[in-house]
Amino acid sequence: MSTPRIKTILVTGGAGFIGGNFIRMFLDRHRDVEVVNLDKLTYAGNLESLRDVEKNSLYHFYRGDIADEAFVRRLFNEWHFDAVVNFAAESHVDRSILGPSAFIDTNVRGTMALLEVSREFGVERFLQVSTDEVYGSLGPTGKFTESTHISPNSPYSASKASADMLARAWWKTFGVPTLVTRCSNNYGPFQFPEKFIPLMIANALRDKKLPIYGDGMNVRDWIYVEDHCDAVDVVLYKGKVGEIYNIGGGNEVANIEMARLILSKLDKPESLLEFVKDRPGHDRRYAMDSSRIETELGWKATRSFKEGIDLTINWYLKNQDWWQRIISGEYQDYYKLQYEER
Ligand code: NAD
Ligand code: DAU
Repeated sequence: MSTPRIKTILVTGGAGFIGGNFIRMFLDRHRDVEVVNLDKLTYAGNLESLRDVEKNSLYHFYRGDIADEAFVRRLFNEWHFDAVVNFAAESHVDRSILGPSAFIDTNVRGTMALLEVSREFGVERFLQVSTDEVYGSLGPTGKFTESTHISPNSPYSASKASADMLARAWWKTFGVPTLVTRCSNNYGPFQFPEKFIPLMIANALRDKKLPIYGDGMNVRDWIYVEDHCDAVDVVLYKGKVGEIYNIGGGNEVANIEMARLILSKLDKPESLLEFVKDRPGHDRRYAMDSSRIETELGWKATRSFKEGIDLTINWYLKNQDWWQRIISGEYQDYYKLQYEER
């Protein structure tokens, strides 16, 4: 399969955690590609995270909803994109339990709108950014491969699995050249402090309790965000259309272990740990088999967990304004709803 010629790319959800890190890396790597960031700027979207690329003449921002097909069509009319990378999503499992509708609107309907307009205009690549959560939950052994049956357990993962199925159908039925990446848990700079690692860091720094769901023995396979972004770039240019690629960090850590590690790195006491009511439908363990992307495309995660967690903690220490502003704003209502009612 020939390498796609990409001159203009639509990146959705670029004001979020992974999308923002991807845009920064992509602009640095591909100095002749126009990058359009389409983001609705929901509670999770923050243009502060992209201040350093704002002045780059190849970077363009549009505020809009991926589910607004007419708007997406106008954008395609203006830019005639060669490729689309769809990061835009409602991404937090706990929020999907509190209110699933937005997850269906964005993750399912939004993906369909992007696929439809991509079909109309024709693109060389459509990359759907998905998650290991579509596979459901593992027991103490084994890993998810690309042929593991999908068995999503939360409204979030069900919506992401639906989007994966749409990407497959638009390839099989209409020939839209889709690729799907499924990644494990990301951590690193600019992650919204509702997610586990930044929440633990932010709470520890403010001497607040660290809420641990259930027995704390749920395991996640952590990957540094830049390794995920690198994998998306590799799949975009070298991946085989119609395929799925698993991306994992190969770092399985139980939640309680992670919280203890963060406390010890910040020199805070373990008395800050607080076991709280479990998340309904809480998946026990995720672990990714990334051998397809490693052997077929030559990608490998490069950042060790030891390096990645230090970089992350240091980033949150140095950028307290960034997350303090978030915590003192809209997010606070959600925080109250989530934890004070337990
Ligand atoms: P995030 O919540 O930090 O960012 C999501 C971004 O999408 C925000 O900027 C938000 O404003 C935007 N957005 C939401 N709805 C939109 C809409 N209707 N139209 C346009 N923009 C909209 O999420 P993230 O953690 O960066 O995740 C990005 C993608 O990666 C998601 O698709 C998620 O499912 C997937 N993913 C995340 C992880 C992880 O560990 N965070 C792991 C694997 C896959
Ligand atoms: O696996 C990939 C997925 O990782 C992505 O698709 C999602 O977008 C992303 O949000 C993330 O989902 P998780 O549910 O695994 O991540 P979260 O940070 O919410 O939780 C990680 C683990 O920590 C999980 O077992 C639940 C637990 N947890 C989480 C929070 C927020 C706690 O024990 N306490 C908490 O306060």
